[in-house]
Amino acid sequence: MVVDPLTKLAIITGDASQDIAIRLSQRLGCACVGSTTRVFPDGEAKITLESTPAGDEIIVVQSASPPVDSNLLRTLSMIHKARESSSRVIAVIPYMGYARQDREFLPGEIVTLEVVADLLQAAGATKIITVDMHSMAGLSKFEIPILNVSAMPALARHIKGTNLRDPLVVSPDMGGSARAALFAKMIDSDHTALVKERDRATGEVTLGKNDLSDVTGRDVVLVDDMISTGGSMIKSTELLKSMGCARIFVACTHALLVGGAEQKLIEAGVEEIISTNTIPAGTSKVDVSGIIADVITSNA
Ligand code: R5P
Repeated sequence: MVVDPLTKLAIITGDASQDIAIRLSQRLGCACVGSTTRVFPDGEAKITLESTPAGDEIIVVQSASPPVDSNLLRTLSMIHKARESSSRVIAVIPYMGYARQDREFLPGEIVTLEVVADLLQAAGATKIITVDMHSMAGLSKFEIPILNVSAMPALARHIKGTNLRDPLVVSPDMGGSARAALFAKMIDSDHTALVKERDRATGEVTLGKNDLSDVTGRDVVLVDDMISTGGSMIKSTELLKSMGCARIFVACTHALLVGGAEQKLIEAGVEEIISTNTIPAGTSKVDVSGIIADVITSNA
């Protein structure tokens, strides 16, 4: 199925995802309305659209990437504004901030993803598209339709073009082992997962007992949905290096790379970091606009 040729689309974008928004507008052949953001001395932001979007369906494109709360509020504001032009507003949120807060891990914790889901709907979004949402449990928090597309095939195609020697795909934690298995299948290799433990109070990561016998001399591809501080990947890299692996490539969809994580990963011995443009970074080597355009056209 393709977009009904009579359905006119228009895109609105904020500062966080201009690259994807422009590429998406080129793929969909529709206008992309930019915006300017003025931040007042007290921290409040005033967003002004560059023109009025004209479409039967308006697509608001903006990741909830750091600064997460600011970008989220700006996304909500653009959705709210889009509703003045159309009753159908798709929120394309390539990186869904707060997706890791999808359950009450410790007593009293607020499941903020539920709040985010309610706010997006209340602002006026009628459909959401996101990329590699942290968990399937997170998707269930949304009452409006949410489509989760995966960048893993595109990341795997990119990695496959690298001259890998006897590659092994490794997930830094057991929760990502299905992802690693799929990734391995796509690059014709095998896979394993490390045992990672995170202190829920401090956030500190430790690696549990890992019996890895077949890493010696092999190139490793560490795969995860996201890198934040890089702590998980650095600990994994140190372990795998100590066990005699060859080069380590790191692939993830969302490279938040906070607190100098990129430099720390390189210093830990990572050969290359490959991420997508859900969060623009020097490591963004894979474009997700094509998979987002496909899901928009096939679910019109
Ligand atoms: C957690 O389960 C995620 O999949 C990532 O492994 C985690 O968010 C990475 O965080 P950091 O880079 O700070 O270790």
